[in-house]
Amino acid sequence: MARRRTAVLVSGRGSNMAALLEAAADPAYPAEIVLVLSNRADAGGLARARAAGIPTAVVESRPFRGDRAAFEHAMEAELLGHGVELVALAGFMRVLTEGFVARWGGRLVNIHPSLLPSFRGVDTHARALAAGVRLHGCTVHLVSAGVDEGPILAQAAVPVLPDDTESTLAARVLAQEHRIYPAALAWLAAGRVRVEGGIARVAAPVAEGALASPLPDAPALPTNRAEG
Ligand code: GRF
Repeated sequence: MARRRTAVLVSGRGSNMAALLEAAADPAYPAEIVLVLSNRADAGGLARARAAGIPTAVVESRPFRGDRAAFEHAMEAELLGHGVELVALAGFMRVLTEGFVARWGGRLVNIHPSLLPSFRGVDTHARALAAGVRLHGCTVHLVSAGVDEGPILAQAAVPVLPDDTESTLAARVLAQEHRIYPAALAWLAAGRVRVEGGIARVAAPVAEGALASPLPDAPALPTNRAEG
């Protein structure tokens, strides 16, 4: 089967992009990364992509002065110019318009550092700590019009430990992001995802579907010191 031509959109360091590039380096992986696009010329992810020999493009959002549709059309010119079929958002810090989401519907995927639908938006790790949740994690989802909304493809949970800081928790979650994003993109690229009533169904062997459960190599849960 032909590999699906995929663009990765980044605004920052690009560690998820790097995980996708690494997976896609295997010719048997069903997606081929043909473009890394950023809205920031200084995004660390661009340098990493160039070092890996992947074509890159920069479409700065600033010159468009808040005209999101015009910005997106400029991005789409790059996407179409590279024959892109699937788009993977990986730390892309611009909210997309309904028009863009509709045009790329079912072919646009995002990773978010929380167990959606909890903690949409930014500062998810600080908010998880402030809420005192015992489990936190990450989600790969198809993008629909709302911010951090859309049918869930994969999730991984990690424990929140008593002495966690925002950065220790973020690092534990990020390790799982790098695991589930390549898996979920592969499912989409291989045509194994169908959406029914807003729910994504993944035709996957049980062993792969188990990615959606708390992970076997997650650190042991802390002893419950509460009374009673
Ligand atoms: C990740 O935590 C991702 O979930 C969120 O933005 C961060 C991007 O990190 N959407 P990186 O650029 O992939 O390292």
